[in-house]
Parts: sequence; structure tokens; C-alpha cells
Amino acid sequence: CGIIGCVGRGDQTLKTLLGGLDTLEYRGYDSAGVALANGSVQTAKKAGELDALREHLADKSLSGTVGIGHTRWSTHGPPTDENAHPHCDCSGDVAVVHNGIIENYQTLRDELAADHEFRSDTDTEVIPHLIEALLVDHDPETAVRAALDRLEGSFAITVVIAGTDAIFAARQDSPLVLGIDDGATYLASDVPAFREHTDRVVYLDDGQFVRLDNDDGGYAVTDFDGTPRDPPVETVEWDPEATGKAGYDHFMLKEIHEQPRALRQCLQGRVDELAGEVTLDIDPDISRVQFVACGTSYHAALYGAALFRAAGVPAQAFLAHEYAIQTPPIEDDLVVAVSQSGETADTLAAIREADRRGADTLALTNVVGSTMARECTDALFIRSGPEIGVAASKTFSAQLTAVNLLALATVGAGDEDVRELIGALRDLPANIQTVLDSSDARSVARDYVDSESFFFIGRGYHHPVALEGALKLKEISYTHAEGFAAGELKHGTLALVTPDTPVFAVVTGDDEAARKTIGNVKEVEARGAPVIAVTDGESDVERYADAVLEVPSTHARTAAVLANVQLQLVAYHIANELGRSIDKPRNLAKSVTVE
Ligand code: G6P
Repeated sequence: CGIIGCVGRGDQTLKTLLGGLDTLEYRGYDSAGVALANGSVQTAKKAGELDALREHLADKSLSGTVGIGHTRWSTHGPPTDENAHPHCDCSGDVAVVHNGIIENYQTLRDELAADHEFRSDTDTEVIPHLIEALLVDHDPETAVRAALDRLEGSFAITVVIAGTDAIFAARQDSPLVLGIDDGATYLASDVPAFREHTDRVVYLDDGQFVRLDNDDGGYAVTDFDGTPRDPPVETVEWDPEATGKAGYDHFMLKEIHEQPRALRQCLQGRVDELAGEVTLDIDPDISRVQFVACGTSYHAALYGAALFRAAGVPAQAFLAHEYAIQTPPIEDDLVVAVSQSGETADTLAAIREADRRGADTLALTNVVGSTMARECTDALFIRSGPEIGVAASKTFSAQLTAVNLLALATVGAGDEDVRELIGALRDLPANIQTVLDSSDARSVARDYVDSESFFFIGRGYHHPVALEGALKLKEISYTHAEGFAAGELKHGTLALVTPDTPVFAVVTGDDEAARKTIGNVKEVEARGAPVIAVTDGESDVERYADAVLEVPSTHARTAAVLANVQLQLVAYHIANELGRSIDKPRNLAKSVTVE
């Protein structure tokens, strides 16, 4: 979910909130709402994307000088008007937006139910009712603080109360950042929500409370118990233009095309070709590694673990949500969280468990100031710039690049030639550009768009690429797809292979891995499946393929990145042919901040 709030914007308040919500829709978009306070509290909320709220607002005249807004990704209760945020108390004088989960909501609801009428299925609704009950004996700020004392779980909360020209907000395990301007203060789940107004930010910490006052547009941060805090004001560098679509039909297509630049940024200043060295501003001591991650980032983690193993270092990748409940033995492992957002709750829980067991932790993330970046012992930034499309594209390529840098800087490359690898990384941006300029992905997409199911196979470094190719297609086209280690398809799933199930086979080089994958290609070809080879032309896989997506010849490690770009384009064009909501696929959110 995404939160926005502002004070000091006068009659621009509603416009500011809606503008902020536009940039936060990547965090969820199944309903949205706003509350403005100016003496009384006025609320408007609607199921559906933000446009549904805009339409709903067209025949209302909401005004107020302090305001909060929310875009939701459902956890408690379906996406309905009633379940949309803000939630109010009985009198309508208290409005709350919330991101996270209130674990003891049932206890609180049972306690309040006798005197308070609940209108939604959400856990959030207990908060305004609780505040309403506490307002009987307390002033507004004290009532909000007292309510916080009763809440268990994870939350970022913002509150407006009738007659109070201020916003109260608190953070516990869910991100909240302030934007500081002259005479105005913003508050949001993420910086792009107010980046067009200011580049000065304050990242709140867990356990912090903030009061934003409209009269001077200022703010005051304290701990929950009222102890004053003075967190530093930092300056962010991202250009607001970078969050526009820049002429592309979709953010995802723009972000796919931004990959050469994203990777140049990732490599910049870290690679010394002459010396054959990679230097990072972190230098963790690595003798064993455990990666934890979810979704696309898990595929980068699998790839990363393979790099470390190739250098002779024991390394494994774990799904973060499994790791947190069944933590494997930790010896002197470095635990690396791979997370674009740095906020995924499952990954955070894994990192916290590793930390509790005494491990050093490293965040490999795109977001400076994210919770993971701040909580881990160290952080390595992938430097992609903001990614708005829900389905990860440029950040995955940058994760693969950054994890190569991490391995080269810390443990080397085993039997591989380090200089050759550095050269391959240096060539990666230009090679991606070649793929983008010459890809036949669109015609392949048109030829196979009506297929009922797709399979993706790859060996070694291409196995995570096969998994990611399938995930990307599922996410944005809603078509069934599965990815496999190439040798595994024959152990069961071959039963599903028919002339209606195209198989994408990633085969580069002409080594034993390539030859074995070609053997697997022949197995599916014999069952009548169309084969699309993603290849550099070094082997004879084309002989068995119905279509070819070419990538430049390079090292197997970097070939994986190039092959993935072809598969991103295939997924994009299939989804586009099907008219899907590419940037905001149904049911998904870019950053899932609940476990
Ligand atoms: C969500 C997104 C996925 C993403 C995953 C991990 O489920 O929909 O696209 O891969 O979270 O996100 P992270 O920010 O940790 O990389």
C-alpha cells in the first residue's frame, strides 16, 4: 500500500495528494482514498484504480489544508469502497490511513465493538475507533500516542482529527519518509510521491512519531514515548523527470530500454579494467554466503549463489519467507538480502532472523534509505534509478550485474579469467543496446500469443533466466508459464508438452551445458512443441528451433543478462497483444510489505 500526506499546501492540498498517489500506485492499486481536514474531516474513497477516485471526487467539493491519502493492496478484506482507506471513527472526526498489519486487531475490535459500529473488514478500522475512545480523556496528540501503545504488528499510520490543523504519523516496520520544503511538509511511503515538490527528505525510523503542523508547515519527530529526535535531513538525487514515461507506452517498456544506462550507473567507478579489479565501498569478509529474497529478486539470488559457488565459496539462495521460519544453520555466513525495494516484509523478516542469530547482513537493493539498507550491516546499491512498472525489469539486470561485482570484489571468480569477466561486464550495456535495437521478440510474441501455456528452459546461469522469463510472462500477460532447469523438464512436466506449448530454450556458447540443453530441446521438439531458441549462434540449436532470438556472444554469465532482456521483451509484447494492464498487473503490488 502507499501513503501520502501534506501540510502547508493550502488550496493545493487535494491536488498534491492525488499527484502523490499517482506515483505510489505501484505499491497497490485496488482502491484509493483521501481525507482532508479543515475544522471537520472530509473523506472520499473508492474501490478500483485512482481514476475511479478522481471520478468520484468530480461531484464532491472536498476542501482542507491538511490531508492524507492512500492507495491499497488488499490484505484484510476484498477491495471494496468500505475496505478502502481512510477509515473513520463513528463520528467521522478521526480519519486514518495505514500500511501494514495490526496483529491484535481482533482483540481491540472485540473490546470496542459494544460502543463502536465497524463498517469494514479491515484490521485498520480499529485504529480510528481506538483514537475516538481515547479522545474522551485526552488531547488529540496524546490520544494518538496512547492508541499506538495498544497496537501490535507492523504499521505506518497517518491520522487527521477534526479541529486539529495537523497530521500525526508513526512508523513501526513499514516505511515512512518526510519531504521538507519551505512552509510545507510531505509524508509518504516513498520519495517519488513528493519528489516534484522537494528533494530534502527525512527517513523516519521504527518507533518514531511525527507531528506535521499546518500553520508553519513544520514538523516535529519524537519517539513513541515523546522523547524528541532530530533525524538528519538528506538530499535525494533522483530527477523527477525520471519517473515519467518519456514517450513510451508503458513504464515497463521505458525501463527495459533504460537498462544500458542503469547498468552503466551500476558499474561506474567500481570497475578498473586496467588493473583487472573491482572495488566497492564495502568490503565484507566472505567465507560462506546465504542469499534471501522473493520473486524476481530470488532469481537474482539463485544466480548470485551460483557465482559464489563458482569461486569455491559455499553459497545458497533461500526464499525469504521459508528462511525466516526454518533458518538453516548459520556458521560464519554473510546473509545477503536481494530486494529491489529494500522493503519486502518477507525478506526483512529473514534478515532480522539472521541478525538475531549473529550473522552479518548485506542489503543488495535499489533504494537508498530503504529499511533493509539501513538495518543491514552493509548495503550495496544497484543504482538503477526508480522503477515504476510493477514487474521488475531493469532492476533485475542491475541485480545480476551488482552481484557479479560483489563476487569479483570479495571472492574472485575461481577458474575464470577475472579480466575477461570485467570486460564482459563493461560490454554489457552496449550488448543490451544491440538486443534492444534488433530484437525479434515482437514478431515471436505475435506468432505465439494464443498459446495456452509456455515453458522456459536453461542450464547453469541460464536456469534463473528461465525462471524469470516464465515469471515475467505470468505477471503481465496472465498466461500460464513455467521455467525449469533444462534437464528437469523431462522428469514429469514433459507430459504437458504439446504443439500448443511453445518452449523458450536459452542456449549460449557451445560447451557441455549447451550440448545437453540442445538434447532437451530435441526432446520437446519430438513432442511437437514449437521451440524458440534464445542464442548467440555459437551452437547448432537453431537447427531445432522454429524461431530464434539472438544475443551477442559473450561470457556465459553476461549472456544470461542478455537472454533475459529478450525474454522481457517477449513477455511485454505478448501482454501488449493481449491488452493487459502491463504496468499494474491485477492482484500484484511492486513492494509487498506484509508477510
Ligand atoms: C513483489 C513484486 C515482485 C518482486 C517481489 C520482491 O511480489 O510483485 O515483482 O520481485 O515483490 O520485491 P523486492 O522489492 O524485494 O525485490
